[in-house]
Amino acid sequence: MICFPLSIGQLRPWREGDEESLVRHASNRHIWNNVRDFFPYPYTPRDAHSWVRSNKSYQQPNNLAVDINGQAVGNIGFTVKDDIYRYNAEIGYWVSEDYWGRGIMTQAVPIMTNYIFQNFQVNRIFACVLEGNIGSMRVLETAGYTHEAIHRKAAVKNNQYLDEHIFAILRAEHRELNSSSTNR
Ligand SMILES: CC(C)(COP(=O)(O)OP(=O)(O)OC[C@H]1O[C@@H](n2cnc3c(N)ncnc32)[C@H](O)[C@@H]1OP(=O)(O)O)[C@@H](O)C(=O)NCCC(=O)NCCS
Repeated sequence: MICFPLSIGQLRPWREGDEESLVRHASNRHIWNNVRDFFPYPYTPRDAHSWVRSNKSYQQPNNLAVDINGQAVGNIGFTVKDDIYRYNAEIGYWVSEDYWGRGIMTQAVPIMTNYIFQNFQVNRIFACVLEGNIGSMRVLETAGYTHEAIHRKAAVKNNQYLDEHIFAILRAEHRELNSSSTNR
């Protein structure tokens, strides 16, 4: 089973039994304000069941739960794009507000980045961050992503137009980053 240790907890596949803690931690307006609208709010048991059902059985999962003391308290995952963008993966993540600021995503994003480049035919990983989400921007910068662009007022959230910040890392940059850190 795929499993990556964190300083507190681990990243591991979603499994049956995660539904209750998923509802408890995901149903949070402060999380919803920073993610796409398809992320449910309120996050119901029905939403949790369908999430776990669709993510539990993959050999090489696209989504991993952030597990702390056996409880699923967050997610990090990716989707591979299609057509001329088929070598691009979009990464996304959230963690329970109870654990914000403890360095979880600073550890998880490099792990997931590595996992994607090692296991999937992807040449570029990118993230779209809504304006004001300084924590997420820091996480990506620390993981070696480049702040590529600002799509001005591209997103709408809570009936307000927001800038969207694009961060990305290329396979060659990732290789370079890893070889310089192992040569140090
Ligand atoms: C954004 C999010 C994933 C960050 O995860 P986290 O595990 O709390 O982040 P970390 O503890 O690793 O902190 C990363 C950095 O951001 C800083 N940071 C975290 N939250 C911050 C905030 N609200 N404001 C300013 N800085 C913040 C930390 O101090 C740290 O900075 P450092 O590297 O200089 O020490 C988390 O807040 C979250 O789930 N938010 C809601 C969903 C979301 O925004 N998802 C991402 C969509 S792009």
